Amino acid sequence: MSSSLESVDITASESDLIKVTLAKKVQTLRLDKIERHIFICADQTKPLCCSKEKSLEAWDYLKKRLTELKLDQVTEGKPSCTFRTKTNCLRVCTHGPILVVYPDGVWYHSATPEVIERILQEHIFGSQVVQEYAFLTHALPHDFS
Ligand code: FES
Repeated sequence: MSSSLESVDITASESDLIKVTLAKKVQTLRLDKIERHIFICADQTKPLCCSKEKSLEAWDYLKKRLTELKLDQVTEGKPSCTFRTKTNCLRVCTHGPILVVYPDGVWYHSATPEVIERILQEHIFGSQVVQEYAFLTHALPHDFS
């Protein structure tokens, strides 16, 4: 009987190809240099926390400013970068756009372009949580030992 949970058999040559392809992606996207990862609820299937237009305005602003500020790049003197991901829904679904910064685990509400600018300047550059808009700080616990 087949199951949707069955693993896919991969040959050794397919496995090598996958590793090479993904290693190139790691380099292109500088995944190994990520210092912070920003997730924002945008372009939702069901826009509940804010309108789709408002969420896309926030997403576009975040992308633009990360590039303008060179936060999304590794530069001479700055060996790390900030990665960004547009999510369909962060499951909070009220007072959006909702934005979360990892590994700090700081959750923000009302992440309009103006608030995003403050998050970039005060939190990302200054390592100070923008308390006015933060509704939770919960860094994820981890222990890989
Ligand atoms: S729709 Fe934005 S958090 Fe769910």
